[in-house]
Amino acid sequence: MHDILPEDQPYFQRIFQATDEIAQFYGFEKITVPVVENIELYERGTGLGTDIVEKEMFSIKTKGGDTLALRPEFTPGIVRAYNQHGMLSWPQPVKLYTYGPLFRYENPQAGRFRQFHQIDFEVFGEQSPAIDAQIIQIFYTVLKELKFGHLIVEVNSIGDVQCRPYYKKVLANYLRPRQNALCQNCKRRMKENPLRTLDCKDEKCQRVKLQAPQIIDHLCEGCKAHFKSLLEFLDEADLPYHLDPYLVRGLDYYTKTVFEIFTDKQIQPEEGGETVLQRSALVGGGRYDNLVKILGGKDVPASGAAAGVERIVALMKERGLPPAQIPGPRVFLAQLGDLPKKKTLKLLEELRKAKINIGESLGRDSLRTQLAKADKLGVEYTLILGQREILDGTIVLRKMDTGEQETVRMEKVADELKQRLKNSK
Ligand code: HAM
Repeated sequence: MHDILPEDQPYFQRIFQATDEIAQFYGFEKITVPVVENIELYERGTGLGTDIVEKEMFSIKTKGGDTLALRPEFTPGIVRAYNQHGMLSWPQPVKLYTYGPLFRYENPQAGRFRQFHQIDFEVFGEQSPAIDAQIIQIFYTVLKELKFGHLIVEVNSIGDVQCRPYYKKVLANYLRPRQNALCQNCKRRMKENPLRTLDCKDEKCQRVKLQAPQIIDHLCEGCKAHFKSLLEFLDEADLPYHLDPYLVRGLDYYTKTVFEIFTDKQIQPEEGGETVLQRSALVGGGRYDNLVKILGGKDVPASGAAAGVERIVALMKERGLPPAQIPGPRVFLAQLGDLPKKKTLKLLEELRKAKINIGESLGRDSLRTQLAKADKLGVEYTLILGQREILDGTIVLRKMDTGEQETVRMEKVADELKQRLKNSK
């Protein structure tokens, strides 16, 4: 878990700004769900057999004897909210988005944190593949808006209850004689859910995967038509994508469409060898037509995805992509002596109301130190408030580039500044 220091905040702010703008354009409404929920929600939602639930959840025992979990992902919490607040009776589809912190007890490594942030979009009550394509388009657009260049969208279909069980059997038959070539984890996974072996990053398992049967060849008519139509939507929207027949995603609830958005990251090996390209998944998502029902609701189709904010920030920094521009002060207020200092707080507040962005150094008394700070901030004007000005009801206005000074009436200072700042923009 880590602190996000002031210097990194503009990156987070830029990502959340872009998300808000795009969400609003596409008609998504914001929802905020609790950070802790009953652990059962994730056991049933995310799935008991997933790494997230099996190994990565932070759990808390309450004094009352309940077991809660720090949310490892947003989707089950948002589905719970959909059911709990009767959103089925709202006009469908219900389009929701959110962002915030999540918690996974991961092995610390590059791009993986135990507290991290996601932006998350979910759509309920619409089964058309157009919605899957729209979710992909939204995340693609957020990343483009942040000025990411080369992005790779990988898509696949993992079928549904009609066709997946048969494919699992076909895959298990392929894996069984090759068990010894799999990692320890996959030997176990093979029995519980052979699909998960396709997700394994171990080199040995990757080799076995190369020749494995592909689910695409075993989809039922409904899933095949859905997938074909999704690809047509992506083509029409000019969204470049690759088919990855082995993309399965490590969460239990997906049906039909699954996708990830990657970008290649350059890694310089420590020994000084050649740079290698490492893939980093920025976004992951897909359709989950059974989850609303599994979590106690009606049969409501749904689709969604989430992006990892820290990973996006790391790449923005690495590639020199611009963070949010937080405007600095254009005016500085310097005060000389006790009485002027006492008047400063009120004057600052009047200038804030007039929307003049102003810097100050209330703890300093010497004019020289204060002007040095004004210089450092790069302001265009400095207001100087001394004993005499207080008595006269005036204030000195110093133009920083020329050093010219003039005296203006206190009650006119806000208007005067606004006028001058407008002219110098
Ligand atoms: P996920 O693939 O587990 O999906 O996470 C989505 C993204 O969150 C990843 O692609 C990655 O960028 C980021 N991420 C995940 N774990 C970490 C970590 N430990 N540190 C930093 N970043 C991380 C989900 O969470 C699904 N709920 C997505 C979804 C929404 N599917 C349907 N609706």
